Amino acid sequence: MHSVALHACVALAKPLQRDAVAYVNPSVNGGSMLDNAGEGNGGEPMNVIVSGLSSPDVLTDDGIVNFARAIGFSTECFGLHGGGAQSANLGDGNGAVNQTLELREDYDDAGVGTCLESLIGGNHFRVFRQNGALANTGALFLAVSQEEDLAHHHTISEDGYNVGRDKLVAAAVGDTSFGDVSYSTTAANVTGLLPTGADGINHGIALDGIVTVLTVEIV
Ligand SMILES: *[C@@H]1O[C@H](CO)[C@@H](O)[C@H](O)[C@H]1NC(C)=O
Ligand SMILES: *[C@@H]1O[C@H](CO)[C@@H](O)[C@H](O)[C@H]1NC(C)=O
Repeated sequence: MHSVALHACVALAKPLQRDAVAYVNPSVNGGSMLDNAGEGNGGEPMNVIVSGLSSPDVLTDDGIVNFARAIGFSTECFGLHGGGAQSANLGDGNGAVNQTLELREDYDDAGVGTCLESLIGGNHFRVFRQNGALANTGALFLAVSQEEDLAHHHTISEDGYNVGRDKLVAAAVGDTSFGDVSYSTTAANVTGLLPTGADGINHGIALDGIVTVLTVEIV
């Protein structure tokens, strides 16, 4: 509710013309599926992609926020989050760009729930959009992780990248809705985009190397 005006504004930045593909592997044009978690921290995996072939309205800032709410996330609890913005190079010609949005599990209360999540831990994700001239797919690359609580300084849980991805995907697949928008979502796993293991990964937490691609249709 408090953030409606902001989202109405940023949604204007969406590209008008997109390439009709699900996504382009960032490494093709010098990018990476690992974001930059800050100097010397390594990267966090972009382990979920919302396909560029999803309904166009899902891929706007407003649209992904509404979809996130449909699957149990909300905009961040403002002021409690300790972590800084992370950046990613999606190989689309834009170079390293800060995350567009960060969303947290809302514990069924869009107002207070995200604050609760900050206190007790939970799932969260950062959103990066692939929309530069070299790969204008409109796909959203999500860096998803399961966090510990504030007392543990928001560190990622053991196996937190794989677990966070699987929890988000489990909540997303099938029929969901929020407000007056209903979604039908399918998932496919892709290997070979992300590395396996913990080398170069923030907090040294190992990856299973799977990226789940979601195709989200408004029905
Ligand atoms: C990214 O965010 C950081 C703060 O977290 C800021 O210092 C930096 O200027 C931002 N970079 C861009 C390209 O907006
Ligand atoms: C993707 O991989 C995860 C982790 O192995 C698995 O739990 C899930 O069922 C897979 N999903 C699909 C659609 O294959």
